[in-house]
Amino acid sequence: MNQTVLADPTNGLADFDAETMCADLSQQGWSLCRLSDTILLETLRDEARSLWQNDALSPAGIGRADDHDVVRKIRRDLTHWMDGSTPAQTAYMAFAEALRREVNYRLMLGLFAFEAHYAVYEPGGFYKRHVDSFRGARNRVLSSVLYLNEDWDRADGGLLRIYAPDSDTVLAEVSPEFGTLAVFLSEDIPHEVTPARRDRFSIAGWHRCNDRGLVPALQVKGLPVA
Ligand code: OGA
Ligand code: MN
Repeated sequence: MNQTVLADPTNGLADFDAETMCADLSQQGWSLCRLSDTILLETLRDEARSLWQNDALSPAGIGRADDHDVVRKIRRDLTHWMDGSTPAQTAYMAFAEALRREVNYRLMLGLFAFEAHYAVYEPGGFYKRHVDSFRGARNRVLSSVLYLNEDWDRADGGLLRIYAPDSDTVLAEVSPEFGTLAVFLSEDIPHEVTPARRDRFSIAGWHRCNDRGLVPALQVKGLPVA
């Protein structure tokens, strides 16, 4: 592993085509691309795998329900939050920062902070249709998922199914193939993960806006938001 390459944000993963990505985001709310820094991708994949093998991932929850049985009907994946404590994580954060700047410059989304976790879907793992942020919550704004699986066959399941906003129309079924990055608007794009038949590794991340001061502690119906 070459740590110099990993630590340098000008190498890293910042080779994405920001212009195409942002055009897609503004026209359809989602975009796919392929990242090509194989060394970094492999390092991230190895780190996800070794965290998983060392039992460092835990069953994921959902925003408002802690009831284990309720959660298990909605999603069955294991997650581990990134904290920037390894060169690979630092490099991924640097990539997210490059993406944040491009998207803010081109689309003026006001992205501010980024958080991400490794996720593993074991055979039978899924995530039912959902959006990553409630409309108007001004919480998560841009979702991104980087896939880390070599030689994924569509028959292995675990597809990211992207729906049209407010409809049952399926716009895309994305195979979680090594190096594929999916980005979409967190409030607008419903999506799901179909049941996986093989261990499926990814990094799910969210850029947030700086919502301090935007969302009042108490919203009273009928009164304007100050
Ligand atoms: C999520 C999610 C999609 C995927 O973690 O919120 O929707 O393809 N992940 O892993
Ligand atoms: Mn999601």
